[in-house]
Amino acid sequence: MTVTIVGSQLGDEGKGGIVDVYGDAVDVVVRYQGGDNAGHTVVYEGDEYKLSLVPSGAVRGKIGVLGNGCVVNPNTLFEELDALSKRGLSPDVRVAERAHVILPYHRIIDGMEEDVKSDDDLAAGTTGRGIGPTYEDKAGRRGVRIGDLLNPETLRDRLEYVVPQKRVLVEDVYGIELGGDVDAEAFDIDALFETYRGFGERIEREGMAVNCGEFLQRRLDAGDEIMFEGAQGTSIDIDHGIYPYVTSSNPTAGGAAVGTGVGPSVVGRGEVIGIVKAYLSRVGTGPLPTELGSVDGQTPENGGRPGESELATFIRDKGGEYGTVTGRPRRVGWLDMPMLRHAARANGFTGLAINHIDVLAGLDEVRVGHSYILDGEELLSMPATTEKWGDCEAEFRTFDGWDDVDWAAVAAEGYDAIPQNARTYLDYVADELDTPIYVVGVGPGREETIIVESPF
Ligand code: GDP
Ligand code: IMO
Ligand code: MG
Repeated sequence: MTVTIVGSQLGDEGKGGIVDVYGDAVDVVVRYQGGDNAGHTVVYEGDEYKLSLVPSGAVRGKIGVLGNGCVVNPNTLFEELDALSKRGLSPDVRVAERAHVILPYHRIIDGMEEDVKSDDDLAAGTTGRGIGPTYEDKAGRRGVRIGDLLNPETLRDRLEYVVPQKRVLVEDVYGIELGGDVDAEAFDIDALFETYRGFGERIEREGMAVNCGEFLQRRLDAGDEIMFEGAQGTSIDIDHGIYPYVTSSNPTAGGAAVGTGVGPSVVGRGEVIGIVKAYLSRVGTGPLPTELGSVDGQTPENGGRPGESELATFIRDKGGEYGTVTGRPRRVGWLDMPMLRHAARANGFTGLAINHIDVLAGLDEVRVGHSYILDGEELLSMPATTEKWGDCEAEFRTFDGWDDVDWAAVAAEGYDAIPQNARTYLDYVADELDTPIYVVGVGPGREETIIVESPF
């Protein structure tokens, strides 16, 4: 069977940890979208593994696959594989021949476009990994795919077509001269050919390239358990998220079919687990109706609500809500139920994993954005435009807080050992989404995770 792991909010909900928690029963872990914009953390026997591209299952010696829906930076891929090997692991990772390749010019253009957009407050605050420009080239039918790296003639043809266009874009549209601040080699056909042909040779040598859908079907036919590991989250999905402050792929569960080459019925016959952080955190820009204070330390004097910036700081510090790559403080907010109802519908969740309830421990009360008020009407789900979403006022419900306890001991005892007030909170979320709780996260480690139900 298959299990699909999907972020239900804005990314960083703890997907990597849940992939790992269920990992024992799994044979193959497949990423179906995104690239090295992800940052997935697995804590195993006290050791922390941060992976941006390689599927989290690699830490447990499972076969990892980067599906055709992914955009792959071979530099990152090999850096991560080599780093895991140095730590004593033997990662077995395959890459779809149909997956698109992130080239150096994609990263450079990502930065240039963000700069231009920032003048109009349109910048998404991207990770700068070239994700958007690579998906643009995929849709524009001028991309380079992993399969092309294995064939020198095709690779040269593709580069000869696309690279001159990129030079024109940078020089004539952005008005930036190559060389100086901008690495001219990133726009040099011969240099790119040499480097990327080298990557192709390594992929070939190590037998990494696969016809993804066929590979997975063979594994399913042989009785393997397959996990689809989503990156990012539903509200930054390019179709179902807060456009344009989104990523350029489909983290939602439908992406697991399109992005791997198995049918939607295969994904649908399995389980789809929504990963929920017990509050919100956000690295990028855009509105956030349940936001607590601001990163700059908003106070009642400058428009913040009383006590909010202290609360935000408490949650940010306790939850380690600082970007993994840039270290920038993440914006934080209360749980947003309209966002979760939208996610439950768009993904068809069959189960929930609710993480980080330990982070909220110690607060007198915990609030939840239960609904929105927009133009005098109550909304239970997200409106379809981001402008309307920005106009939504959250209607809050208040829950009694719970104490900090020995969470590892609670995890060892199981669900009933969770403080009563926290269980009331969890039950509310499960009831509102009409979806059972499969896992509760009470800390970053595997031993701080309560498994209520296993999909396998
Ligand atoms: P992902 O991108 O969804 O895989 O999540 P990240 O790894 O980017 O961010 C989640 C962070 O929270 C990581 O540092 C995890 O180790 C940590 N984490 C996951 N679950 C829990 C939890 O239940 N409690 C706490 N305190 N931390 C958690
Ligand atoms: P994981 O898998 C949180 C955000 C960026 C930006 C927007 C577009 O760890 O949950 P991109 O570089 O993708 O073009 O940036 O999406 N973003 C994430 N936020 N977690 C992630 O991944 C993210 N990946 C991208 O901050 O707002
Ligand atoms: Mg992350």
